[in-house]
Amino acid sequence: MSDSKCDAFVFFGASGDLAYKKIFPALQSMVKRGTLDVPVIGVANSNWDLAQLHARMHDSLQEHGGIDKDAFGKLTDLLGHYIRGDYADAATFTALKQALGRSQRPAYYLAIPPSLFGTVIEQLSAAGCAPPGARVIVEKPFGRNLETARELNRILLGSFAEQRIFRIDHYLGKRPVQNLVFFRLANSVQESIWNREHIESIQITMAESFGLKGRGSFYDQTGAIRDVIQNHLFQVLSNLLMEPPARTDSESIRDEKVKVLKSVATLRPEDVIRGQFRGYRNEPGVAQGSEVETFAAVRLTIDNWRWQGVPIFIRAGKALATTCTEVVARLRRPPSILHDDLMQNYLRFRINPTCEIGLGLSVLDVEGAGSGEKVELLASRFDAGHEREAYERVLSDALTGDRTLFAREDYVEEAWRIVDPVLKAESAVYPYEPGSWGPKQAGGITPPGGWRDPVSPAEPAR
Ligand code: BG6
Repeated sequence: MSDSKCDAFVFFGASGDLAYKKIFPALQSMVKRGTLDVPVIGVANSNWDLAQLHARMHDSLQEHGGIDKDAFGKLTDLLGHYIRGDYADAATFTALKQALGRSQRPAYYLAIPPSLFGTVIEQLSAAGCAPPGARVIVEKPFGRNLETARELNRILLGSFAEQRIFRIDHYLGKRPVQNLVFFRLANSVQESIWNREHIESIQITMAESFGLKGRGSFYDQTGAIRDVIQNHLFQVLSNLLMEPPARTDSESIRDEKVKVLKSVATLRPEDVIRGQFRGYRNEPGVAQGSEVETFAAVRLTIDNWRWQGVPIFIRAGKALATTCTEVVARLRRPPSILHDDLMQNYLRFRINPTCEIGLGLSVLDVEGAGSGEKVELLASRFDAGHEREAYERVLSDALTGDRTLFAREDYVEEAWRIVDPVLKAESAVYPYEPGSWGPKQAGGITPPGGWRDPVSPAEPAR
């Protein structure tokens, strides 16, 4: 469902890392595509002027995707204000109000640490910057746990109605993540096997071969569960497991996604193994003796009509053997009248860095000895696109008011409910070698038939 389009775009944290790496490139692409044509205002506490902000935008684009002369020129014209100031200082918001002029539908994007969300929201309200048409876009992770997420929701809802709050998860802007739902519902062959009768287990791997990329102080406050499992990978899970929505409007779709999380049992400490790559504690910004996990393997239990009894496994980590996000759903074995050890059929969805869908099958081996040979039918493979494109997609939707790709209050709270006890338990963190598949203790959480390590995605996209 789409509300009226916003008439100004304000982003807090204009001098920050997120703006540099993702927002400027996304804004340029939006201008190029014609989805951004309203005044843009940057707010930050760096002691800059507008010319310095423009220079920063130039550098950001040069480093992330290149400059498109026309679009850059238009974006420079749109970005007509830089408000410098402290977020706790009312004067910052008086200046913002003035820069907004007669705007009735401003969109505020909080590209700032979550600890500052509350202050900014309260100041926006106090300064009269939150008319009924205003909307707010907030970054993940939304809160640090169930309690802080509820508190944050309370603060946001004090100034913005739920349909005016856009909780970003850029994974939802990725085409392969959207394709999970499309592929399921567009192909009766898949939907007919997509249930507990046919699927034995589901596993999701999000492996990253790189480390912290200079984000030590953020990551050391976050860890793998908060950084990617509670949000990105639960969104993947919801797309995989949700029921077909009754209608295709944003609320009907989001209703189904919440229902998936409601069916997932709260994690117990024994359902999770945490790991930390060797060398993590020497990374800049990381506390001495930090116990934050850079790897987690999780076993989830889901209890609903379609999926009861099908175990779900998720693992995610930094400094692993490759960079790849992949889902593998193993089918139940056929009766063993042909051979005792036939491979299980499987469906494989690769989400990053390519978008692939493969179906694992057995055919008669070449010698005809009857042992069966494993083959994979590749349904499609294409470049999954860049994170920048995912940001462009979600920001464009927020500006036009389409809520489908954003997490609703009840969804976010369910997601925290599932992981909360594990975050509190602070279980052991096992060391692992960079370039491996995590700590050997992760073997304690293994899908039936084992983890399927994604093979290095070196193949060119076709
Ligand atoms: C971010 C996490 O949200 O997603 C990062 O904070 C992670 O730690 C990134 O690397 C992965 O996103 P993508 O689009 O690069 O796969």
